[in-house]
Amino acid sequence: MYRKTYVDINVDNIENNIKEIINKYDYKYYIGVVKGNAAGHGMKLCKYITKFGINYLAVSSLEEALESRKYTDVPILILEPIHIDELKIAEKNNISVTISSYNYYKRINKEDYSNLKIHLKINTGMNRLGVSNKEEITEIYNDLIDDERVKLEGIYTHFATTGVNDKYYDDQLNKFVELTSDIDLNRVEMVHLGRSCTLEFHPKISFANGIRIGLIMYGIGQTFNRYIGLKGKLRKIKYHFKRKIQNISKTYESNNINLKTGIELNTEVIELQQLKPGDKVGYGLTYTANANTKIAVCPIGYADGLSLSFKNSKVSINNKLYKIVGTINMGMITIEVDSDVNIGDKVTIFGGNVNIKNVARATNNTAYTVMTHIDSQIPRRYFVHGKEDSDEE
Ligand SMILES: Cc1ncc(COP(=O)(O)O)c(C=O)c1O
Repeated sequence: MYRKTYVDINVDNIENNIKEIINKYDYKYYIGVVKGNAAGHGMKLCKYITKFGINYLAVSSLEEALESRKYTDVPILILEPIHIDELKIAEKNNISVTISSYNYYKRINKEDYSNLKIHLKINTGMNRLGVSNKEEITEIYNDLIDDERVKLEGIYTHFATTGVNDKYYDDQLNKFVELTSDIDLNRVEMVHLGRSCTLEFHPKISFANGIRIGLIMYGIGQTFNRYIGLKGKLRKIKYHFKRKIQNISKTYESNNINLKTGIELNTEVIELQQLKPGDKVGYGLTYTANANTKIAVCPIGYADGLSLSFKNSKVSINNKLYKIVGTINMGMITIEVDSDVNIGDKVTIFGGNVNIKNVARATNNTAYTVMTHIDSQIPRRYFVHGKEDSDEE
């Protein structure tokens, strides 16, 4: 690594999250969702999480599945349909595939396979992928449940909302029950409906034995106290009546688990500028110094995944927060600092004491967009018990 812009992963924190989840929630399959370069953590994360209790992985594409296969032997599910002529590659690598429509199912020629594992996706209201018709679902089930060549390993759906004070979660759950009422779910090895917020907010769905977890595994919890102060109390009363009138199921207010984020995007100070009052900085001169001001320059920019809205974010240098000023450049940013900051100091863009959810809020992003936007070419370093694990695979 020459340019000192890198991602550090605290593997112990991710281990903590997985163990907390497994201790608290009772599932047979903990499916780690490692789409988007494991949410920016790098696919090598698969090597660790599958030792901590994640016993299944889920990805977006065949490319991601094959990449994660380099780090683990656990089964992998591709959540998006892949080209029919690539199913053989999936079969060969113990990669399960999604049937996302009746038409897709019809195009699979069973004679071509000896052990292809499929998960049937049911559309319950997300209206993105999945079979929506009960007769078609029943036909696919009847056709594949006892087939060895193309095996129905799983059935799943995806919730569009958190279900907190909204009825859509209940509607989707009821729809799943209705659409699968002519088939025997007990005969399907894996039934997985929920994601992190389902786990955090809702009682366990009795017939599901798998849960697909992304955010919560990465240490991003979604429960928070939304009823603080007088306004909060009024909101609580309003939601109470809304739930009653619309018959919305009750949700938990806190997950009561101790989550820790493990990802940290770091860079360093490569140059310092001393400005006088009235001096300006960068393209378009969008920043003007009000007083004598020290500016630090760091080698990171939008080509590395920092969206332009990071101009509203704060970074940490020696445990102190400083403001990014001026525009985000392709490969550099400028930060308003003080006399404590020197060339070579480490700068944390997010993670560590720069809370990822706060950064997401300040930059008009989500935690996922902040993490997944980090360019995959930026070096990832994995720390286990404080020591870098640099074993080449
Ligand atoms: C189909 C599917 N399941 C599960 C997840 C994981 O969601 P979360 O990160 O909220 O746990 C995703 C995330 O993108 C997804 O697309």
